[in-house]
Amino acid sequence: MTIIELESTHSTNTYAAKLAPQPDMPYIIRADFQDLGRGQGDHSWESEPKKNLLFSIVFEPKHIPVDKNFFVSKFIAFCLMETIRKYNAPAMIKWPNDILVKGRKIAGILIENTIYGNSIKRCISGIGLNINQDIANKEFNAISLKEITGKEQNISVVLNDFIDVFNKNYYLLNKEGFQFINKVYFNNLFKFNQSALFMSRGSQFEAKIIDVRDDGHLVLQKSSGKLESFSFGEIEYLFSK
Ligand code: BTN
Repeated sequence: MTIIELESTHSTNTYAAKLAPQPDMPYIIRADFQDLGRGQGDHSWESEPKKNLLFSIVFEPKHIPVDKNFFVSKFIAFCLMETIRKYNAPAMIKWPNDILVKGRKIAGILIENTIYGNSIKRCISGIGLNINQDIANKEFNAISLKEITGKEQNISVVLNDFIDVFNKNYYLLNKEGFQFINKVYFNNLFKFNQSALFMSRGSQFEAKIIDVRDDGHLVLQKSSGKLESFSFGEIEYLFSK
């Protein structure tokens, strides 16, 4: 797989979006540093130079309808979780597509799709994976691979691990693979089917995650039995419970 390596850029997702499509798909844009790294919503993504894995993988999935776009997120979250598990870290997926280890965030994903007609044409999946930065004892609820394994890790080796998992499983990214992707996503989804505390529009409530729809909405069942669905940004997890 072609890897375009950059010392520094604003954001590998922005760089990938501006770059003319490369002949051999998929390809990767990787940077040692981003001065305007972007997270989901209006969040930024900050990372010390050369400490973490920052990259975007660009690919053209076939036949993914727009209303099932969340399968791409589920697939990338699965690949990332498997990569981290190679290091014996008990990684889990937190909706929509964060990766947690021991309740702390180790990686985030920012997916930006180009739509053509009713399908996804091109997908830019930006991944930030904490590798060698010391973060667990700061106020963030985050952790790095070094903190889990107790030793520095080679960032390029971790990227190659990801590429291996991605290549081996890429065939799943079509209609036939949806069922399997859903199975692994729900089997490894943080707080799935368990009572947990959430906060939405200023009020706190207890509920169970019972589904994540194909368009990415989170479906909760409140203690009253009532079902409600939320998009990203409308709901927050409260970790204290
Ligand atoms: C999140 O959890 O909010 C998503 C974070 C995604 C960060 C990665 S780092 C590489 C790529 N380039 C960006 O600007 N963002 C993504």
